[in-house]
Order: sequence, then structure tokens, then C-alpha cells
Amino acid sequence: MNAIRTSPDSDRYAQCISVSRRVRWDIDEDVIRGRRFDRSQKYLPDGLSLVPEFVTLSGDEKRFVSQIQGRTYANMFGLVERFINAKVLEVSRDHWLGDQVALEALVRFSDEELKHQELFRRINDMVGETLPTGYGFDVDPNAVAGAVLSKSTWAVLALTLDIELFTQLHYSHSIDPDGELSELFKDVFLYHWKEESQHAILDELEWKRHDAGLTSDDRDQAVDEFIALVGAVDGILQAQAATDASYFAATCGRVVAEEEADAIKAGFLKAYRWQYIHSGAAHPVFRKVLSSLITEDQGQRIQAALATLQ
Ligand SMILES: [Fe+2]
Ligand SMILES: [Fe+2]
Repeated sequence: MNAIRTSPDSDRYAQCISVSRRVRWDIDEDVIRGRRFDRSQKYLPDGLSLVPEFVTLSGDEKRFVSQIQGRTYANMFGLVERFINAKVLEVSRDHWLGDQVALEALVRFSDEELKHQELFRRINDMVGETLPTGYGFDVDPNAVAGAVLSKSTWAVLALTLDIELFTQLHYSHSIDPDGELSELFKDVFLYHWKEESQHAILDELEWKRHDAGLTSDDRDQAVDEFIALVGAVDGILQAQAATDASYFAATCGRVVAEEEADAIKAGFLKAYRWQYIHSGAAHPVFRKVLSSLITEDQGQRIQAALATLQ
């Protein structure tokens, strides 16, 4: 008989499958719908790009910064989804011969992440059609994924939940409420958010399930690996902030003196750290799940590491 063995969390996995089926979308038919980006509009909202803090720039220049950051935003998601998908496929192995409901939920998660990576490649190309040449995002997703996946599953799932929660927060708090944003850019992240909501639930279930099998020594080491992963993310952000600031200075149509160039680079880095590190670390669900798994001392180690990235 084709019996399935279920687990205590089967209902939550089943709920994710049901919503995933209901919200499923197509890149061309639902998201892009034959539209193009329009350079007269902002791509990334002020709440993420922090352009009001670029005080030396004109309104047009601030909009250009939002467009550069919007392109990098799509590329960053394309980058992290490479390792997220690989880890999801890896942990799904625990369900191959067990809970088939959990397995289906994770297979759908993986399928959606592959589609998202394709969407973000398309968005990079489409934004590129509207901006001056010279933009660079020279980070190899496979090399980054290889480095991330060399860390423990606990550390990778922690980073994954963090990312998939801040994705939703960015949409609901900053992208959706901004009335001056490109409608196409807004739709990309509306549709992305619809599928990411299930991913964050599955991350939490898988992280807790995996955590239950660890010793306290394993977990203590994993906390250090999580801190190292956040540091590695910051390394990517520092390099991309410098690349994007140089691109802005080279293509904004005027001479940018060294002092202003330094301030612009610092502005990019502050925005990227807010987008990819601090907004997730402060997410109430992330804090709640993390603190339920670690000791106070481990929590302080994480906070101390985050405090150095200001
Ligand atoms: Fe995604
Ligand atoms: Fe996701």
C-alpha cells in the first residue's frame, strides 16, 4: 500500500503546499506582462535605498542611486537563492523515505527558488537596458554557495530564515507603501513575496527539526559559523558598495570629488548592511526563533558581531 508516514508538523507543511498551489505565478504572464522599466521612476524604495541620506545628490541623482541599488537587489537575491535551493534539496533527503507531505513542500520550495533565480536574471537584463553601461556584479553564485554550504546546516538554515523573513519585511514595510516606485519593480517583489511567505515557514520547521538532533557543542560551534557567514555576507556588501559607488561616479554626468565619492560609497554600504544584515537580524520572528534555540551567551556573541557592522 502506498502509505505515507506523517510527522507532528505535517499540517504546517500541508498548509504551505496548499498556499503554494494557490499563489503560483508565471514570470511572463503574471509578473512582467510585456512591460519594461522606465528610468523616470525609482526602482528601490527610499526605506531600503536610504537615498534621503545621500545629501549631496540632486533628485535625479538620488533616483539613479535607487536604480543601481534596485539592480543589485535583484542580483543579491539571485545570488543567495543558489545556496538556499541547494540546502533545501539537501535537507529534503531526511524526508525522502518519511513524511511525503514535508517532501512535497520542500520540492515546491526548490522549484520556486529556481524560478526566482530566472526572474532575477531577467530583471538584471531588463534594468540593464535602461541604465548606462559599466555596471558590475562580479560575484559567482556557485563559488559563494560552495563557501556557504561548507558551514554547518544549522548555520545555513539560520541565515536562510533571516533572508526569507527580511524579504517579506522589505516588501510590506518599504516596497508596497512607496507610491513613486516603478510598478514593474513593485510587482516583481509582490510576486516574490507571495512565494517567500511559505519558504520562511518551512525554514523555521527545518531549522528546529535539525536543531533537535544537535548536541550543545555542535550548536555552539554552529553559532560561530553563523557569525562567520554574516561576516562573509558583509564582505560581499563592502565590495559591491564600492563597485556601485564607482559606477555611479563614472556615469552620473559630473565630476565627483574624492571626499564626496567616499561619502557616496559609505551611503551604499550603509544601505546594503541595512537591507541584507540589520533588517533581518531585527525581525521579531527571527529573534524569537533564534533565541528559542540558543543560550543567552550565544545571543550576546551574535549581537556583539552585528554591532561591529555599522
Ligand atoms: Fe525566492
Ligand atoms: Fe525563498
